[in-house]
Amino acid sequence: MADWTDCLNFGISITKQASEVVLSAFQQHKEVKLKSSPADLVTETDQRVERILISAIRNQYPQHRFIGEESVAAGEHLELTDSPTWIIDPIDGTVNFVHRFPFVAISIAFTVNKQTQFGIVYSCVEDKLFYAQRGRGAFLNGEPLFASGQQDISRCVVVTEIGSERDDVALSTMTSNICRLLKLPVHGVRALGTAAVDMCQVATGGADAYYHIGMHCWDIAASAIIVQEAGGVVMDTDGSEFDMMSRRVIAASSASVADCIAQVIQAFPCRRDDEDPCRCAATGVNRL
Ligand code: IPD
Repeated sequence: MADWTDCLNFGISITKQASEVVLSAFQQHKEVKLKSSPADLVTETDQRVERILISAIRNQYPQHRFIGEESVAAGEHLELTDSPTWIIDPIDGTVNFVHRFPFVAISIAFTVNKQTQFGIVYSCVEDKLFYAQRGRGAFLNGEPLFASGQQDISRCVVVTEIGSERDDVALSTMTSNICRLLKLPVHGVRALGTAAVDMCQVATGGADAYYHIGMHCWDIAASAIIVQEAGGVVMDTDGSEFDMMSRRVIAASSASVADCIAQVIQAFPCRRDDEDPCRCAATGVNRL
């Protein structure tokens, strides 16, 4: 079996380098463009960080392929093939970044034969580096991570996001999902504004579950393997096997908590990531 440790170490090193660009722009005013909705934002820094990462990886591994959030937003075809592929979100939590809310992450997953081999999530402002390699455990700043193992939904902290969809069906589905969970009851519901960092909370044991509908593969591909390697469970919101292209995910401390959430929440329809090659290019410019 191939060993992708060199790629992982290279990925960590360029992530740390690229985070300098994120951090130096964090306190500055940003030119903001809208993508698919008024809450789906992109800045010049998102695009710059993605260019820096892809160019560094291409230089080192010329045969490898890429799925990058901003490249896809600019019209690039999204296709996950069997080739070694880097799935990149240059800034997960762009709304946080624009507002200087201090949870923003660079998220990178690496797949071979469509199977994730490692994931890196660097929460830049917190200086927290989460990473995991298939079969080798999950780590935060070098220390091993373990999910809580909680089995009882009524003792859970559950993380979720409303997401960037703003149509009536999406909003009523997401808000009523939160109400249904609170009435189970659960101990609490939280949202940090970045799917990648949210989901890593399950790997730390600080949260017991996370679910989301409508995010994209680059938001959760890296954190999914981090949760799995920390002993957690990752599945589709309908209870089926996790599919990073489906735009639905539950991550949990145990199968029983994941099943319980799958029974309680509803999904709204959204097009799969790999069915939507013609994503809209950015439109409109606002200054925040
Ligand atoms: C967004 C964040 C947010 C989630 C959205 C994502 P981006 O990613 O992960 O938490 O709710 O669905 O699009 O756009 O900041 O990379």
